[in-house]
Amino acid sequence: MAGGGIAPSKGKAYPGNMTCKVFVTCIVAAMGGLIFGYDIGISGGVISMPLFLKKFFPDVWRKEQGLSPSTNQYCTYNSETLTLFTSSLYFAALLASFVASSVTRACGRRVSMVIGGTLFLAGSAVNGLAQNVLMLIIGRVLLGFGIGFANQSVPVYLSEMAPYRYRGALNMVFQLSITIGILGANLLNYFMANLKYGWRISLGCAAVPGIIFIVGSLLLPDTPNSLIERGKREEAKIMLQKIRGIRDVDEEFDDLVIASEESKKVQHPWANIMKEKNRPQLTFAMLIPFFQQFTGINVIMFYAPVLFKTIGFGSTASLMSAVITGLVNCLSTLVSIAIVDRFGRRGLFLEGGSQMLIMQLAIAAAIGAKFGVSGNPGSLPKGYALAVVAMICVYVAGFAWSWGPLGWLVPSEIFPLEVRSAGQSINVSVNMIFTFVVAQIFPVMLCKLKFGLFLFFSFFVVIMTIFIYKFFPETKGVPIEEMAIVWSRHPYWRKFVPAPDNIDDDRKPGSGRIGIEIVKKEQDC
Ligand code: BGC
Repeated sequence: MAGGGIAPSKGKAYPGNMTCKVFVTCIVAAMGGLIFGYDIGISGGVISMPLFLKKFFPDVWRKEQGLSPSTNQYCTYNSETLTLFTSSLYFAALLASFVASSVTRACGRRVSMVIGGTLFLAGSAVNGLAQNVLMLIIGRVLLGFGIGFANQSVPVYLSEMAPYRYRGALNMVFQLSITIGILGANLLNYFMANLKYGWRISLGCAAVPGIIFIVGSLLLPDTPNSLIERGKREEAKIMLQKIRGIRDVDEEFDDLVIASEESKKVQHPWANIMKEKNRPQLTFAMLIPFFQQFTGINVIMFYAPVLFKTIGFGSTASLMSAVITGLVNCLSTLVSIAIVDRFGRRGLFLEGGSQMLIMQLAIAAAIGAKFGVSGNPGSLPKGYALAVVAMICVYVAGFAWSWGPLGWLVPSEIFPLEVRSAGQSINVSVNMIFTFVVAQIFPVMLCKLKFGLFLFFSFFVVIMTIFIYKFFPETKGVPIEEMAIVWSRHPYWRKFVPAPDNIDDDRKPGSGRIGIEIVKKEQDC
């Protein structure tokens, strides 16, 4: 999943360059994000194409065309099989990420990436050629398996290949490429909407990033960390020299070996993570992805065209509006990349949360005023429709510079080495579970809660913003292994985390000095 990368640390500066191999690594990693984003964006668009609906979901199509007795527009898309089409992918990804974590460890990161790409390619072929709903669901499940493997292995691969000073940035690049994937899918849906087999092209085109991902993974070498872990030290050293573009890599290599040995000593990371001293990290690894999904963002990302159609937009206008929200999502992620290390995580969380809250209340009021509970807007004035799109865009921007990238960055930078991998797995799994849940409950909730759907998510946004305000200490500029100091000084978390011994006054988090001794431990992330 996105975000296995490690935030930049201060301190030790290993020599080495941004080599061609590392650059290609970034491209392949970006493909990993793209295929994930592409699938997030594509399903909502094809669902809003009448020809697709008529072929696979005729009941929904009849409701949409006003040919069936159901008149409440809020309930048009409330169909179990239609929902399964979207959500099955995330459930499959969740299952696959558990298998992938053992494969990644035993056979190397690259093997997992190639398996992921191949499953993904198979899924896009089955979907593009689908003749019935079963083929659609099987295709989505294969795509999900592929994504589970890719998202588990790519971030680990990235953080091990990248020179340490680029890790934080690469972490964010992964989120950026997710947003580019979503935007690409929105655009393709827009152009394909009126073609007879447009939906086939939309679904089948997932093969393009899939093929690039497989070829890239085959061409790339395995990481030095993985080679050391599997006892191939000679090979690992040669590899490190190649990817850093210099001969003298002794210091980094020795540190990698130490880190690998340290991590082997930890027999039971899962038992370890339950210990009291890891309570704050465990809490955040579970609550951050939960809250990220309960911002309600995927109601927009998965179902924007459906939502826009529900509130009275035509087919083309709905798909265009989805392109606009996709663009805002992508550009706002760039804003976050630019300011996250100056503005800090807390500031972005609190600002983004407040912005989303205000917009959710405004959207609920606007839709409620026009639709009431009967779900029949009559004709929707153009100005009114534009105002709703604008409010959704401001909401999306709030997410995209706060909970979007931070939902992956923060959990990746708060765990000590010995439980980092276990912590990442928890983060990824919780994210996938609740991505699945939101995809599953949206249509039924829209039908039952109507415009109150936005109030439902706004309730969670209030809770998460208060939670961050009270419990989340700033982690900006704190070297990873010094995070314990931050918890031990927090008014609440100090109950669980004892102050580390022998810390003199200028060894404060972010002072820069403390990173020097600990960066070496960070290598086996
Ligand atoms: C979330 C996805 C979401 C995407 C939107 C990611 O951080 O995990 O669920 O669809 O952001 O850009």
